Amino acid sequence: MNNRIFTVGSLIPGRLMVKPQTLIQTERKEVKIEEIIVEQNGSKIEILPVKGMLLDAALNQGKQINYKCRKGTCGQCTVKVIKAPGLSAPNELEQKKLKNELTNGYRLACQAEII
Ligand code: FES
Repeated sequence: MNNRIFTVGSLIPGRLMVKPQTLIQTERKEVKIEEIIVEQNGSKIEILPVKGMLLDAALNQGKQINYKCRKGTCGQCTVKVIKAPGLSAPNELEQKKLKNELTNGYRLACQAEII
């Protein structure tokens, strides 16, 4: 790290001793965000993990997921989870609607919560 001390005089045009880029350097850290990947009707959908319901996150990110009731009863929002680093455990509505499908990785996007 450069520990040079600058005075007001060193900022006068023509007297600058360092390249301007070095004065405005900021530290950049690359953060890898693990996306949630689901599939519906043969289409793979990648969703950034934003806290809240999976369906809302997808729709807010412009991703197309079919849905109807948003209450866990119609099953229109059923998705197969390919990869999900942080989803809630299936709730009672999902267990009732999906039954054995849950063990095959299916979830209701309107009920699965990103945690
Ligand atoms: S939209 Fe109906 S169960 Fe999710």
